[in-house]
Amino acid sequence: MTPVLRLENVRKAFGRDTLVLRDVNLDVAPHTVTALIGASGSGKSTLLRCANLLEEIDDGVIFLDGEDITDPGADADAVRRRIGVVFQAYNLFPHMTVLENITLAPHRVHGVPREQATRRARELLDRLGLAEKAGAYPDRLSGGQQQRVAIARALAVRPRLLLLDEITAALDPELVGEVLNVVRDLKGDGMTMVLATHEMGFAREVADQVCFLDDGVVLERGTPEQVFGDPQEERTRRFLRRIVEAGRL
Ligand SMILES: Nc1ncnc2c1ncn2[C@@H]1O[C@H](COP(=O)(O)OP(=O)(O)OP(=O)(O)O)[C@@H](O)[C@H]1O
Ligand SMILES: [Mg+2]
Repeated sequence: MTPVLRLENVRKAFGRDTLVLRDVNLDVAPHTVTALIGASGSGKSTLLRCANLLEEIDDGVIFLDGEDITDPGADADAVRRRIGVVFQAYNLFPHMTVLENITLAPHRVHGVPREQATRRARELLDRLGLAEKAGAYPDRLSGGQQQRVAIARALAVRPRLLLLDEITAALDPELVGEVLNVVRDLKGDGMTMVLATHEMGFAREVADQVCFLDDGVVLERGTPEQVFGDPQEERTRRFLRRIVEAGRL
């Protein structure tokens, strides 16, 4: 089966001195969840940003559904329409209601008729337990609610792939669960996702594939049982030991 996302020998440096992704290879099969783990600065966010063409790679190839999206002739807007992204900071527009935030891209950017965009947005809000908040402004919502709106916004264009970058990192502990529940639900729907996370327990539970990034490569990959339960690389073991010592696994 063609992977939804494939990175082949991807290299990304910032300036002359910071080589972040040295030689990254990654396959994401349809309807699977991939968790990217690794120390702070190991390149998880950079990898996600490259996959969404927010950063230009220096070498290698990225395929979306078998199509080379790093080809200079590729239509970046069309690619981004097929990839939903949610970041740690929700980045909602403060002067727009929840509903307007969600319909903005489909209606204004992608030309979906307003009525249809609104129907889809209400459907999503309903699913995410936010039906009551359609007319509210973001500053009246809790962090967990804002993050769920950000997820709804990413889903509004019916993406093929969802990239989630530390989406619970900015949340108070008691709000983390409600956002993780949404991810569980999406997995149940068969949504293909790649998530960068420090929530190891969650990665272990929800991921089909865990990738440990270290020194610019995917040093180790496998099922959660393999990577968390029986890591093969010394550096993976050291990383996990620190996580366990910090009480985070
Ligand atoms: N725009 C940029 N310009 C220069 N350096 C950058 C830029 N973006 C990221 N970097 C550097 O790239 C490296 C990887 O950063 P990245 O944000 O991808 O790490 P990360 O694995 O997501 O870390 P964290 O777990 O803290 O989120 C870091 O050394 C960072 O300083
Ligand atoms: Mg990051």
